[in-house]
Amino acid sequence: MFKASFQNDYSEGAHPDILKTLEKSNYASMVGYGEDPLCEKAKELIREQLGENRDSDIHFVAGGTQANLICLRAMLKPYESVIAATSAHIAVHETGAIEATGHKINTVSTEDGKLRPEDVISVIDAHEDEHMVLPRVIYLSNATEVGTIYHKEELEALHRVAKERDLLLFIDGARMGSALTAGDNDLTLEDLTRLTDVFYIGGTKNGALMGEAILINNASLKKHFRFHIKQTGALMAKGRVLGAQFTGLFQENLFFRLAKHANDRAEELKTGIKEEGYGFLSETTTNQIFPILPVNVVEQLEKHYRFYRWAVVDEKHVALRLVTSWATEKSTIETFLKDLKEIAANA
Ligand SMILES: Cc1ncc(COP(=O)(O)O)c(C=O)c1O
Repeated sequence: MFKASFQNDYSEGAHPDILKTLEKSNYASMVGYGEDPLCEKAKELIREQLGENRDSDIHFVAGGTQANLICLRAMLKPYESVIAATSAHIAVHETGAIEATGHKINTVSTEDGKLRPEDVISVIDAHEDEHMVLPRVIYLSNATEVGTIYHKEELEALHRVAKERDLLLFIDGARMGSALTAGDNDLTLEDLTRLTDVFYIGGTKNGALMGEAILINNASLKKHFRFHIKQTGALMAKGRVLGAQFTGLFQENLFFRLAKHANDRAEELKTGIKEEGYGFLSETTTNQIFPILPVNVVEQLEKHYRFYRWAVVDEKHVALRLVTSWATEKSTIETFLKDLKEIAANA
């Protein structure tokens, strides 16, 4: 039986406009390894979003774990560590990829998945000398693992701590589109080039077949970055595939339009679930929502929809993670809400 999916934002293929950029360039013969005209064009289009701060180096890789691994390896010396929220993707869902490079992740437990200056300082203060690792990078993700976003003031505060404490600031932007188009967002890509040393812009979860664009803003990290990409096995011979997709994403505002579409569907879902009287595990404005529902209702919903059970709340309640995407249709939301109402009435 076909089940409508709220499982992820990468469950569908690619937006037709992105497929068009691939098709249009298909027969052109190009140099390999990301030095082709499509990658150059995509970089130009991304730079147009950077206002005054256009000198970031830009590199494309296929996926988020690769991006995290390459960036952190490039930023850390062998004895240095990375500070992250306990829920961070690198700490939970990357199979120890970062630790496998010998770098410890110093995790800090936070309610909403966000790190704050005091969290960073507590880790720094607990590391005194060469008998311990040296915390060096602050890892954030925007949106976070629980769908929350950073506001400008919060990022500026973290940027200040990074400067004061000689740390590097890195943002995993696998869901950057969703964060930057959230209703309460006040950050731009230009701000991110000013406030971070490195960040990336996710395509995989926002309408591309695959791909993440890494922006290196700190000049001291630019040199030899391609060596890190290659040594990690991530320098694609057909790098043009990534260039074509990011060209498509950054033409005619597609990147932002697709992300906003996903957020709008999530907002409709959230409003409808709230109207049924249910609460949420976290307050989110992005394309991930975490409603708390009775287990017997969830069991019925699972017959018709795909989604993850995120956390057990108590014996009778579970929090779900519902994710909308660039391809989620309004009618799917309406049907889900109708089904929820019916199931709840009969439960
Ligand atoms: C915030 C975040 N970072 C990184 C990744 C890893 O991406 P990939 O599965 O492409 O390696 C994910 C994937 O779910 C993610 O949600």
